Amino acid sequence: DMPALEECLNLTDFESVAKSVMKTTAWAYYSSAADDEITVRENHAAFHRIWFRPRVLVDVEHVDISTTMLGAKVDCPFYVTATALGKLGNPEGEVVLTRAAHQHNVIQMIPTLASCSMDEIMDAAQADQVQWLQLYVNKDREVTKRIVQHAEKRGCKGLFITVDAPQLGRREKDMRVKYGEQAANVQGDEDGVDRSQGAARAISSFIDPSLSWKDIPFFKSITKMPILLKGVQCAEDAIMAVEAGVDGVVLSNHGGRQLEYARPAIEVLVEVRQALLERNWLDKLEIYIDGGIRRATDIMKALCLGAKGVGIGRPFLYAMSAYGEKGVSRAMQLLKDEMVMNMRLIGAQKISDLNPAMVDTRALSFH
Ligand code: FNR
Repeated sequence: DMPALEECLNLTDFESVAKSVMKTTAWAYYSSAADDEITVRENHAAFHRIWFRPRVLVDVEHVDISTTMLGAKVDCPFYVTATALGKLGNPEGEVVLTRAAHQHNVIQMIPTLASCSMDEIMDAAQADQVQWLQLYVNKDREVTKRIVQHAEKRGCKGLFITVDAPQLGRREKDMRVKYGEQAANVQGDEDGVDRSQGAARAISSFIDPSLSWKDIPFFKSITKMPILLKGVQCAEDAIMAVEAGVDGVVLSNHGGRQLEYARPAIEVLVEVRQALLERNWLDKLEIYIDGGIRRATDIMKALCLGAKGVGIGRPFLYAMSAYGEKGVSRAMQLLKDEMVMNMRLIGAQKISDLNPAMVDTRALSFH
């Protein structure tokens, strides 16, 4: 029997419930990661290597956990990151996440490969609700241009170009189950789609592996939305991102689903911040991280080390698959409650009080 929603006390609890109630194909697609699943494990484990240095005797009667992301005010420094194929987990798909995000005033990043169409996801949002677009770049640039300009016209507030997936990683758990669902919105072109190798491979054949730094001016020419690169993994590329004139980066290894042995984003963050600091460029990039964030303490560690916010993927998918909108909403509320409590315990009244001196990173492999 399924536990009552109230029995889920943290984000990890949703994972075990989801595993027991989800269809095999859906669980395989959501939970899978590259090769031996080392990176996906380390994504969360890396947070265990950072310790706090709390301050005491700070008046924390009133704590404010709100912040801004790309200029938009949000209740808490996390957003719903882009994850494909929402209808594998819930018949309504991504609009479930849209409604929960509105309840909690957090941002949703709309995936190119959503099960619902982009318009359906935007229609499900309230007038004041902020959404971003995650972009897989099509070999046919006219298709990409149309998607980007349509998103902007409909009020989308940020363009996140995924740069860590010139080819899909090998996800064996997903490959072992045959993908027979018609859940994908594959940009109106399903011809030639091979469904024998798992969901991921079935939907990704249009992605352009020749995408390079030379393409950045094209994106700048077709939109006024802020442009961010999702999937940057070292200081050199963060520097190149500044030089290319983009507005931000998401340090991410795609939830461990792409290059196996890619480092956890929290490790990369330390390296990137150091490189930007040396050049006095900290104000030139808005930095986000994702991968393995399961607790408010994980969010706080990222913020102490210079991230503006964090993306969360699987936990919301699991909450949605097990309990629908109520589940996602509870997961978000749990994070907010954890955040307020731990801000008090670390001695921070507001987000801008979190700073590098509040974390001990000596046990990280990079510091
Ligand atoms: C993803 N992710 C992803 N990223 C992206 O840019 N485009 C996409 O279509 C998808 N699809 C996708 C599907 C599923 C099922 C997962 C789990 C992930 C990666 C996602 O945006 C993010 O980087 C990770 O999910 C973050 O890690 P956690 O929070 O899942 O540990």
